[in-house]
Amino acid sequence: MNLDEIRRQCENCKGCELYRTRNNLVFGAGNQNADIFFIGEGPGENEDREGMPFVGRSGKLLDETLNKFGLSRDKNVYIANMVKCRPPENRDPKKDEVTACIGFLKAQIEAVNPKVVVCLGRVSASYFLGKDFKVTKQHGEFKEIDGRLFTATFHPAAILRNINNKPLFEEDIAKIKENDK
Ligand code: URA
Repeated sequence: MNLDEIRRQCENCKGCELYRTRNNLVFGAGNQNADIFFIGEGPGENEDREGMPFVGRSGKLLDETLNKFGLSRDKNVYIANMVKCRPPENRDPKKDEVTACIGFLKAQIEAVNPKVVVCLGRVSASYFLGKDFKVTKQHGEFKEIDGRLFTATFHPAAILRNINNKPLFEEDIAKIKENDK
């Protein structure tokens, strides 16, 4: 399936209740042939308003850090979330919401066919790298899953909450850039 087909399916999806309260679907954005695919948690208020992932403060931090290492949505990065509709009050997506939505994300990964998949924070890391995965301890580790490299780093919102971890976040992004070859 190509990205346009997957988007059409997402637009019509009523697989969980989140479609009722969203303003906009947040499908994903970036280069459709990117070597690096980032996975956040779910759209927040700004993303829901604009229909684009990571456009608020944490998105700005993410874009600035990517740019510092020669990465950008235009050139070599694609970004999507575990769920495509905003969970109310910015709560974590529930298990049944992730279950309803995850097939779309997996289809997006197949369509973009990146070399590296990067989980941003606990929600996506625990899904793809194991429920006991600890981002604070295991960030920057790589694991091959079905012929593709997966890794995790801090969620940019967590960096905004604790700026002391910014150097570790930058180290992880630098390493990811090295592994996309
Ligand atoms: N946080 C996320 O996890 N995803 C977004 O798109 C925005 C903020």
